[in-house]
Amino acid sequence: MVTEAVRKTHPLDPLSADEIVRASAIISEHLGSPESLRFLLLAALEPVKGAHDGPRCAEAVCIDIDSGLTTEVVVDLDAAAVRSAVERPDVQPPALFEEYERADAAIRADQGWRAAMRGRGLSEAQIDLSFIHLWPTGNFGSQWETDHRILKGIVYLRDEPDDNAYGRPVEGLIAVVDLSEQRVLEVIDEPSPAPAASSLRFDHDHGGPHREDLKSLDIVQPEGPSFTLEGHLLKWQKWQMRVSLHPREGLVLHKIGYEDDSRLRPICYRASLAEMVVPYGDASVGHYFKNAFDSGECGIGRLVNSLELGCDCLGEIAYLDGVVTDERGGARTIKNAICIHEEDAGLLWKHTYRYPDERGTQSWLRRSRRLVVSSIATVDNYDYGFYWYFYQDGSWEHEVKATGIVQTMAIDDDDPLATRNRIAPRLAGVHHQHFLSFRLDMEVDGPQNTVYEVDTVPLPLGPENPYHNTFTAQATPIRDESQSGREVNSSAARHWRISNDALENSIGEPPAYALTPGATISMMADERSMIAQRAAFARKQLWVTAYDASERYPGGDYPAQSDPGLGIPAWIAANRPLAQSDVVLWYTVGMNHIVRPEDWPVMPVQRAGFSMKPWGFFAHNPGLDVPMPDHCEHDMNQARH
Ligand code: NI
Repeated sequence: MVTEAVRKTHPLDPLSADEIVRASAIISEHLGSPESLRFLLLAALEPVKGAHDGPRCAEAVCIDIDSGLTTEVVVDLDAAAVRSAVERPDVQPPALFEEYERADAAIRADQGWRAAMRGRGLSEAQIDLSFIHLWPTGNFGSQWETDHRILKGIVYLRDEPDDNAYGRPVEGLIAVVDLSEQRVLEVIDEPSPAPAASSLRFDHDHGGPHREDLKSLDIVQPEGPSFTLEGHLLKWQKWQMRVSLHPREGLVLHKIGYEDDSRLRPICYRASLAEMVVPYGDASVGHYFKNAFDSGECGIGRLVNSLELGCDCLGEIAYLDGVVTDERGGARTIKNAICIHEEDAGLLWKHTYRYPDERGTQSWLRRSRRLVVSSIATVDNYDYGFYWYFYQDGSWEHEVKATGIVQTMAIDDDDPLATRNRIAPRLAGVHHQHFLSFRLDMEVDGPQNTVYEVDTVPLPLGPENPYHNTFTAQATPIRDESQSGREVNSSAARHWRISNDALENSIGEPPAYALTPGATISMMADERSMIAQRAAFARKQLWVTAYDASERYPGGDYPAQSDPGLGIPAWIAANRPLAQSDVVLWYTVGMNHIVRPEDWPVMPVQRAGFSMKPWGFFAHNPGLDVPMPDHCEHDMNQARH
């Protein structure tokens, strides 16, 4: 008889569907079971680092949709009791899906808005078939923004339901809608260029004629993949980590470690996307407020796609489902939310060596393979892919892939195009930037680490540099939070080294990992702008802070309509010491988006990211032990003369 193994819940596992339902029932009862109670977030409350034996807890952000009051609740699932419930009348949590639907209906029912649409020469049929895109409004100090829970509806035309509405924006017409009162507060209607007559579509019938010269490309692993997945524990080659989906942050990796000499060496306790902001650079009435915090204002995790085998990922795939709360406290399973697979990654290393005898030359090489852990979230018009890569040489990387549809604007033929580019007749894409802040709670060979900024600089000219050719790598420790905000410097090939100074490697130096920037960009919004102050994290590429379990979101816990200065600036005001302590890195990937015609009607994937390389973590190239494929050795021996 087969007994089913009961898998114990790991303290870092996300909530199961059953736990979500139990937690929401306990919370609802505690709050008097109001019909108006909704759940924006319900997630496992991670145990305090190091203390893995505590009770299983969940945290929730609830809103009463009648009163608009937000309550933060912590539930002890083992004791089936509410541990704390804190009312937060001072914050705006993200809008509910339900609120988006009601806001759309409220705008369509509003006579002022319909009159404005008719005033643009639009028929009732066009008004009914229009697409309303609801935007977080930011905070520019207006009474609507400070005293109401609002979204702004901007509108696009379509002649049939399948049209790509983004090609035909009704420029300058914006409805401000109150989510609690479910009514339009204001209709802004500024004279603006008329929308284009038609839009370009990208569905199957509209991209053709399709090219016919593609031969099949199959990825086959007849023996299966080289990784194992046991619950949320993923092991591949010498790597291991725990993989889960968080409703706000999306893909989360816990306890990234590397097995070396039969011991598991810790590298990173937790890695995730902690916040995002996408500031647009145009001052017109329909665009100046566009500064979406896609993670904190929308919730990346609750927006992830169910991935399709052979479409989103190719090969021998393992999927993890995501379980999030629906807005009434039930469990919603997102099938295939996380994709795990292996990819060929070109060369790992190679050298062609000339022997001093009859053997002549011979090439030695290894193929590189990488483990890919990924998920894709659709946030309105944009789609973001998040890809963690792990390699056999001990390095790991993150790559963001942005795709989807750009924000558009109707323009006249003689538009000055200062803050936008023409992408089609009468249509522009607005200049903007994407900033993605990754929280990296590092633990290189232990929780106590020091972060060094390493610049490559020429040595001073003089007797020590007689040929004017010498240069050195200068490592400067980031000693406290007053030195915390750091910027990339490509002329110094700047990187940051996360080092465990209490330990020595085989050559007497501390083991470390080096964070190397990929493509990035400075924020163009002036430091006095509201967005630069509300998203201060995005003004520098790297911040280092002392670990505090409550410091999770660098733009503040509730960035919707937020005040300036929340998150990073508030935390580093404490100026905590950082040397050889439990540090957290906040690294911001920046994507500059000056829109091109080729980004229309759907943009090809744009990539950006960062990499982590072992630096004295190993005694030598850790990929020496990767076997050479049999046929390579044979073929190269045949061909070596
Ligand atoms: Ni973009």
